Amino acid sequence: MHRNTLIISSFLLLLIIGLASFTHKEEEPIEWKNVQVLPSTITRPQMDEVMDAWSASLGVNCSHCHTRGNYAADDKDEKIIARKMLVMTNEINEKYFGKDSGTIGCMTCHNGKLHP
Ligand code: HEC
Ligand code: HEC
Repeated sequence: MHRNTLIISSFLLLLIIGLASFTHKEEEPIEWKNVQVLPSTITRPQMDEVMDAWSASLGVNCSHCHTRGNYAADDKDEKIIARKMLVMTNEINEKYFGKDSGTIGCMTCHNGKLHP
């Protein structure tokens, strides 16, 4: 390999490592305002994943449970019901399949429908 190519590729490698550690910061836990049942240490990407999964399981959009722009507010009955459903789902898993097994999920009953 030509010496300059070596220097340039070493530089690019360092740049990539630098960028990777920079973007990694996003994964750090953030302070949620009103998370009562999900783990409070949940990261932003994990929260997005959970919320996407709930929406898909019920066949709804975020606005079914949230007022647009205020995800922390408990101003919709649907959100309150969803939180109780999460408690119920956790209890079923804990009692019959093992804590954190994730065997039963919203999809198990809802299967894409709001009223299973
Ligand atoms: C079926 C109802 C439901 C749907 C659909 C839903 N959410 Fe949620 N969301 C909740 C509940 C319940 C909580 C609180 C969970 C808890 O207390 O542990 C929550 C919490 C949140 C939070 C944390 C707010 C805070 O700081 O306290 C964010 C952000 C959020 N949802 C975003 C979304 C987005 C974005 C979507 C759509 C992709 C979505 N949610 C879809 C019920 C829902
Ligand atoms: C063991 C089965 C089961 C599981 C697991 C389950 N649900 Fe439900 N859910 C139901 C049933 C049954 C109803 C009542 C449907 C009706 O009223 O027709 C319901 C109703 C709801 C409603 C109210 C429907 C509406 O009109 O807005 C929400 C919201 C909801 N579930 C969210 C969830 C979420 C979120 C999860 C996962 C954390 C979940 N459910 C897991 C069985 C389940």
